[in-house]
Amino acid sequence: MDRLHILGGTPLEGEVRISGAKNAALPILAATLLVDGVVRVGNVPHLQDVTTSNELLGRMGVSVTINERMGVEVDASTIREFVAPYELVKTMRASILVLGPLLARFGRADVSLPGGCAIGARPVNIHVSGLQQMGADIRIENGYIKARAGRLKGARLILDTVTVTGTENLMMAATLAQGTTIIENAAREPEVVDLANFLITMGAKITGHGTDTIVIEGVDSLHGGSYEVLPDRIEAGTYLVAGAITRGRVLVKNVIPSHLDSVIAKLREAGGTVTVGDSTIAIDMRGRRPLSVDVRTAPYPAFPTDMQAQFAALNTIAQGVGTITETIFENRFMHMLEMRRLGAEIRLEGNTAIIRGVDKLNAAPVMATDLRASASLVLAGLVAEGLTEIERIYHIDRGYEALEEKLQGLGAKIKRIPD
Ligand code: EPU
Repeated sequence: MDRLHILGGTPLEGEVRISGAKNAALPILAATLLVDGVVRVGNVPHLQDVTTSNELLGRMGVSVTINERMGVEVDASTIREFVAPYELVKTMRASILVLGPLLARFGRADVSLPGGCAIGARPVNIHVSGLQQMGADIRIENGYIKARAGRLKGARLILDTVTVTGTENLMMAATLAQGTTIIENAAREPEVVDLANFLITMGAKITGHGTDTIVIEGVDSLHGGSYEVLPDRIEAGTYLVAGAITRGRVLVKNVIPSHLDSVIAKLREAGGTVTVGDSTIAIDMRGRRPLSVDVRTAPYPAFPTDMQAQFAALNTIAQGVGTITETIFENRFMHMLEMRRLGAEIRLEGNTAIIRGVDKLNAAPVMATDLRASASLVLAGLVAEGLTEIERIYHIDRGYEALEEKLQGLGAKIKRIPD
């Protein structure tokens, strides 16, 4: 397994171009299953999770062509199997996103039930019960969700919890249902909106996306077309924190700044001078030590759980005491234990981490446990004194395109050690 070596201590300076959003590309690739015709998806990031999605579609018999310049071209007309097998779902939970599209268009789907996860239980009961309310017959057999349906019927769905992929699965299914579906307590994340915009481009009738009530009027079919995935707000936020933690100056380009409002507010509280352009955000720490911040995660537009670990890293070396409260996932603090190994002073009380900033971290070997935890260890490594070695970085490859190259471009001393 590859490892990362990071020699900490260099303030990062420069510009970095942000890639397409993983969490928009994955549902959009799943949504191509709904389309009668050829779909071209551009600005798809080069990530392991995207490769897994393409493999998942390919195994079903769907034609997937990858073109460096144009993006991914998908034609689902050749589909012959309606299965998401365990061996792929266990490596990528987002595989569950094929459930709604397969059922709505082809009337059947066998999707492996995702098991436990490094950050929480992450059940999919809301996906399943929403589809049942739309008329699907769903059983759990031999570890698989086996779903069958005639044409789905529009329904009023009130989600118990705000769920991103749950909202996406049900919205996708509803595009081809008979009649109108109303999803209440829907997720408002920009990636949900991007998926809705993709579906609308292909002929779906959706309103209310971006609010907590999405209304979908079912149509008979969707047609082919082209779409560009929106920029990755979490990747952008991660590089901005890299600028802040190293007391540097970093500009991220190709972003939609309003998607990062809650993150920008915290960067300013941390003492950063943040300048927002049309499609850029710059942070300048003017060489100063960051100040501790209090962060509480919640669904969009509040502070994203996917940025929590990065701000935990920032707090480890900031001036003062900062708290990180995680309200979305029940076990998303593994990185805290690893950061302690670098000398961070962190106390855990339930779903809150209380972090007292230390003057400096000291390098140590650490282990990545999930995607954002890995990112936070990289950030900590950028300021730790000495050589930090991070193991299990395949987690990073799932969600950050060309991480080392991008960080090297900002002056970081980071390199990948192949196995
Ligand atoms: N939940 C249920 N039942 C369900 C679905 C969700 O109880 O049927 C609960 C979850 O257990 C969790 C909460 O609802 O406590 C919210 O989870 P959500 O369903 O929104 O998470 P997700 O859709 O599985 C997506 C992202 C995650 C991101 C979360 C929260 C994708 C592919 N994944 O996951 O991204 O953390 O939303 O914003 O969009 C990442 O990129 O590192 C990542 C984990």
